[in-house]
Amino acid sequence: MINKIKGTYDILPDETNKWQNLEEVIRNVSKLFNFKEIRTPIFEYSELFHRGVGETTDIVKKETYDFKDRGGRSVTLRPEGTASVVRSAIENKLYASANQPVKLYYHGPMFRYERPQKGRYRQFRQFGAEALGSNSPLIDAEIINYASTVLEALRIKDITVKVNSLGGSESKETYKQKLKEYLKPNITKLCSDCQRRYEENPLRVLDCKVDKGNPILVKAPKPLDYLTDEDRYHFDQVIEALDAIGLNYVVDNSLVRGLDYYTHTVFEIDANLESLGAQKTLVGGGRYNNLVKSLDGPDVPSVGFAFGMERLLIALESVNKIEPKPFIHCFMIALGDSVKNDSLRIVNDLRHGGLVCDYDFFNKNLKGKFKQSDRLNPMFNLIYGSEEKEKGVINVKVVKTGEQKQVPLKDLYQFLVNSIRNITTNSCAGNCSSCDECD
Ligand code: HAM
Repeated sequence: MINKIKGTYDILPDETNKWQNLEEVIRNVSKLFNFKEIRTPIFEYSELFHRGVGETTDIVKKETYDFKDRGGRSVTLRPEGTASVVRSAIENKLYASANQPVKLYYHGPMFRYERPQKGRYRQFRQFGAEALGSNSPLIDAEIINYASTVLEALRIKDITVKVNSLGGSESKETYKQKLKEYLKPNITKLCSDCQRRYEENPLRVLDCKVDKGNPILVKAPKPLDYLTDEDRYHFDQVIEALDAIGLNYVVDNSLVRGLDYYTHTVFEIDANLESLGAQKTLVGGGRYNNLVKSLDGPDVPSVGFAFGMERLLIALESVNKIEPKPFIHCFMIALGDSVKNDSLRIVNDLRHGGLVCDYDFFNKNLKGKFKQSDRLNPMFNLIYGSEEKEKGVINVKVVKTGEQKQVPLKDLYQFLVNSIRNITTNSCAGNCSSCDECD
């Protein structure tokens, strides 16, 4: 037997519903913020991520899936979405659009060779958003608000929004120097990777997974103390906007994020949930004012975020115990061979009217058909045999109440639509997430 690759997983039919619901929330919230979906390839030339994400990051150093294609080109399975979106924006000149900033969102699989554990996979999904073309602190706040609104829509409430600023190139450079001076006498006490990071980019020492919590790193200088006046002003404006929106946040002055492209605002949102284990960060993001230019595009300041969708689902499951059920309007119970084709046609007509219908394809006995219906839990069982065919009627059973009625076949569709309207206004079919039962 050939098994799945370590760190990957299958989404089985019983679970796809959860993913579709999550994707629907993402789409709806993105519409509210007027972001449009972009879809880019899952592999790109390796150089894009090496230059975009940064040669000194753990992602590029240790985690990318790099390979040569049959033409000998170096390609990489995307480890994140930002570099690809920026590449596409440059290639398609999206930055020249009349509508600025260009507001894009995406979701799909990403690949990182990490040590798999709950909430951390080698193939995982991200939902991300990028706003290209504005340096306004208001859009930094808007991006943080957009991410928080997704969590609000999913009713994940126990969260901590952490914000910080790294400043622009000048502030970052001053900070890096200070950090280097501070780390110098202690660097041999840190892990071997950190000793390399110290030389290449001391900022990366701060997000070391091995030395996390080490007092040397906890006491390290903080980027906020080295911001230029202009960069400090930008950050203050972001904070003012968050206050105006009424969004709860904490300034976490040790937050630096693990990708090289960040400048100015950085943020993460953690969910305070046991079920997530050590992987509590649902979303990370920030401003990246130099990335577009460094990938040979124009000078386009930008800001964005990305959620880990598996972590969102783990969080969702622990706060929202009632899982939405797969939804079926009608299950057809055809009594005997003589009506098998007629009942298939009835089902097909109902589907054309927008009703979700299923059918017993195994020609089970009556008990077997009702058992299958129990498992599918439709709103109605439609019972149809030769006697009904002769009279031009069909039996409709409302599964929840057991009520049964004989309906002329020609009125079936309207009867079902009216009944659905009654049922959904008086109670719910178990997937509305707003009635008392589902709440
Ligand atoms: P990131 O922090 O590398 O940022 O990833 C964002 C989120 O993806 C994390 O907070 C986490 O929820 C999820 N994630 C990362 N790695 C894994 C994994 N191995 N398994 C499961 N989930 C994972 C970025 O990717 C940036 N591109 C975000 C961004 C967009 N910044 C600006 N725009």
